[in-house]
Amino acid sequence: MADHTLPSQRPAWAALKAHYGALRDRHLRDLFAADPGRGTRYTADAVGLFLDYSKNRATDETLKLLFALAGECGLKGRIASMFSGAKINVTEGRAVLHTALRAPKDAVITVDGKNVVPDVHAVLDAMSAFAERVRSGAWKGHTGKPIKTVVNIGIGGSDLGPVMANEALRFYAKRDLNFRFLSNVDGTDFAETVRDLDPAETLFIVCSKTFTTQETMTNAESARAWSLAALKDAASVAKHFVAVSTNAAEVAKFGIDTANMFGFWDWVGGRYSMDSAVGLSTVLALGGDQFRELLAGFRAMDEHFRTAPLDRNLPVIMGLLSVWYSSFFGAETVAVLPYDQYLKRFPAYLQQLTMESNGKRVTLGGASVDYQTGSVYWGEPGTNGQHSFYQLIHQGTKLIPCDFVAFCKSLNPVGRHHDLLTANVFAQAEALAFGKTADEVRADQAKAKKVDEALVPHKTFPGNRPSNVLLVDKLTPFALGTLVALYEHIVFTQGAIWDIGSFDQWGVELGKVLATQIVKELEGAPEPERHDPSTNALIARYRAARK
Ligand code: F6P
Repeated sequence: MADHTLPSQRPAWAALKAHYGALRDRHLRDLFAADPGRGTRYTADAVGLFLDYSKNRATDETLKLLFALAGECGLKGRIASMFSGAKINVTEGRAVLHTALRAPKDAVITVDGKNVVPDVHAVLDAMSAFAERVRSGAWKGHTGKPIKTVVNIGIGGSDLGPVMANEALRFYAKRDLNFRFLSNVDGTDFAETVRDLDPAETLFIVCSKTFTTQETMTNAESARAWSLAALKDAASVAKHFVAVSTNAAEVAKFGIDTANMFGFWDWVGGRYSMDSAVGLSTVLALGGDQFRELLAGFRAMDEHFRTAPLDRNLPVIMGLLSVWYSSFFGAETVAVLPYDQYLKRFPAYLQQLTMESNGKRVTLGGASVDYQTGSVYWGEPGTNGQHSFYQLIHQGTKLIPCDFVAFCKSLNPVGRHHDLLTANVFAQAEALAFGKTADEVRADQAKAKKVDEALVPHKTFPGNRPSNVLLVDKLTPFALGTLVALYEHIVFTQGAIWDIGSFDQWGVELGKVLATQIVKELEGAPEPERHDPSTNALIARYRAARK
């Protein structure tokens, strides 16, 4: 029987609560003054990522208690369970094996008695071979022209990872192949995606784990109609549509040759799938070898997470600290601030990964939690965010832990740009932690001979705002793999401590069911009112406006 004692009932939780009372009012200035060594001691280095977590509101005692909590919650055993292929997604009765997607060829990972690794590599090989044909121009469209534009049609996990990777690794991509990503059921997304494309040179990837998602199938049908209207031959579908899915029957029903289907498995969650066949657009952009580099990065972080002692384990350290802020300080959000323009979609990608995973209010055993769980993850690349929302992080009333991601080397060295960029990362983390006292503001005023006591409170920075700084050599496919896997395992660590099911997503169902019903009421003959008064009135108003 699994032990579903609420973490809040565990001794380490109680100790952390008491410790929080003692630490709450201590300033990072004091913590650094009392222990200057923390600036280099609270660091960890693995697989090319250097983490400075010294600017967190934590001491040796905090860390000791957090690791004790991890022990009491069985974190190590849970990690081993995930990697072993145990069905830890209990509400769906599934294994959670995105780690198998990047396992080496000779690994053996069994699900229901079958080693899944050979199938993973067979799909990888098929993706690489297909990508090579498209990239070289050997794959021809129906009229004999090579493919110029690839449109990935998908949503959620079948979109966000591919979009993010396409941006993040653009530097390494084949530039004469264009990529677009069609996700929203809003017809505008479809219209703007295809408006200047030539159907004879366009390849659609219909990317859907289930191949039943309303948005994706609606877009795929519109794309097929658009393509057929120009190419005028049902046989053209085989040349212009390929599928990524776990559902061969639905793929065939749609009219795509299952020979052009790249499969994956129910043990890959949508938001953990960018390194499965869902990454087909990434393989097309980068080629098979560089995609394998990305996978190697994921794998390196997997191995680190699986084997490193908890106190040197990056995802564990970051995961536990985020639990500390969420469940003890009551912090509601985490800002992820990549200082690299190529990572501009990284925060959006993390939103699904973190919030669809840990936006849960009952434990695995079904009990209501009595503590805060998943945080709201958000962010924008620096330095743009500094001129937008950083004000609130510095001087607002909310506690917002920040993750800064920075690179030592630029992929596009231009003049002093990179030093300026990086100076801003370090400056922001320093300003958040240490702030500026009222006396320091007064001293500045005195120096400038502009004493104005009324301005002092406005110019004071309280500081004591925590952050992590992740420093990476440079953005490569390998480095991106390590970063994504880092956050996957942070999410796992959080979920393990909170004892929640990080791998299901029942919360997305109700809206889908209601929308399926409501669309009939919008389009069909008037029906008796069946909703709440607000929804009934909105439906009536829309119908009247559409007449
Ligand atoms: O609605 C949520 C969701 O199920 C996500 O978890 C998933 O990534 C997305 O929809 C897309 O699903 P599919 O790949 O099956 O189209």
